[in-house]
Amino acid sequence: MPRAVRFDAYGGIDVLKVVEVERPVPAPGRVLVRVRAAGINPGEASIRGGRLAKRFPATFPSGEGSDLAGVVEELGEGVDGFGVGDEVLGFTNDRASHAELVAAEADKLVPKPRSVTWEAAGSLFVAGTTAVAAVRAVGVRAGDTVVISAAAGGVGTLAVQLARNAGATVIGLASPEHHGWLTDHGAVPVRYGDGVAERIREAADGRVDAFIDAFGAQYVELALELGVAPERVDTIANFAAKERYGVKTEGTAVAASAEVLAELAAMIRDGRLQVPIARVYPLDQVQAAYRELEKRHTLGKIVLRP
Ligand SMILES: NC(=O)c1ccc[n+]([C@@H]2O[C@H](COP(=O)([O-])OP(=O)(O)OC[C@H]3O[C@@H](n4cnc5c(N)ncnc54)[C@H](OP(=O)(O)O)[C@@H]3O)[C@@H](O)[C@H]2O)c1
Repeated sequence: MPRAVRFDAYGGIDVLKVVEVERPVPAPGRVLVRVRAAGINPGEASIRGGRLAKRFPATFPSGEGSDLAGVVEELGEGVDGFGVGDEVLGFTNDRASHAELVAAEADKLVPKPRSVTWEAAGSLFVAGTTAVAAVRAVGVRAGDTVVISAAAGGVGTLAVQLARNAGATVIGLASPEHHGWLTDHGAVPVRYGDGVAERIREAADGRVDAFIDAFGAQYVELALELGVAPERVDTIANFAAKERYGVKTEGTAVAASAEVLAELAAMIRDGRLQVPIARVYPLDQVQAAYRELEKRHTLGKIVLRP
């Protein structure tokens, strides 16, 4: 029987287990995918901990995960455009990708370019579509100066590259150990913490046009203090800020499509986008993977390999 991550109640990392489950059957319009890599994301930890129980309740036993890449094993009725053996990447909204097999909707999958690694393909969905949404939300244009908080994280590393590709100067907030990655990717690294506003002003030569907050905390207030117009601030982690300050809170929901995924995959194939992989864990070590993620100092993505 195939194995999958399950949890039976809201709780800490220790509620996560890997168990044998029924082999999923692809319903009409679905594709059975043998998962080769599946990214993990902070939102899954929040759901598991019950912190999003009102907005995104869980039913138990719950599966987990939306990012995935793998090989098509079986086609449900009415699926065309994919064949058995095809390499695909994409997502499922069923909390089911942290598993050996997943029956995903065909319209949430795209072909995986051969040159894109399993790890990059399998961790592209949440971080990639969120980065696209955030960069679009603040309207990044050539010549802009854009500040990105949590610039070394899963979303941040991709947003940095997308904003650079659009011709912006990017100031990335990160710990000193991640400044090398930011410099190598054309961004100006700035340390967060006390005095950050002054350091940003200095790095920006006084003018900040847009701010992408990929962390939460007080970064929206910082953006406004730096003089950024509310409509050019997007936060993916502080939803109350929309009502309070009129800033944007656009994230994965507005860019979660096969079309956006195909564009991102093509950028990786063409060498215009890189998904830094912090670490790969076997599915069995799902608890260790979240322990690392929840320290919140990842450079890029953490990936499970079933
Ligand atoms: N709304 C949406 O659609 C959506 C979608 C995806 C994610 N999110 C949310 O967005 C956030 C980021 O997600 P992610 O996947 O990028 O997370 P992640 O990969 O876990 O981000 C970790 C990053 O946070 C940085 N960090 C830690 N403390 C910081 C601080 N005080 N100030 C600035 N940066 C700090 C770390 O940088 P250093 O290691 O350099 O310190 C690290 O690189 C999470 O809260 C997640 O839930 C929302």
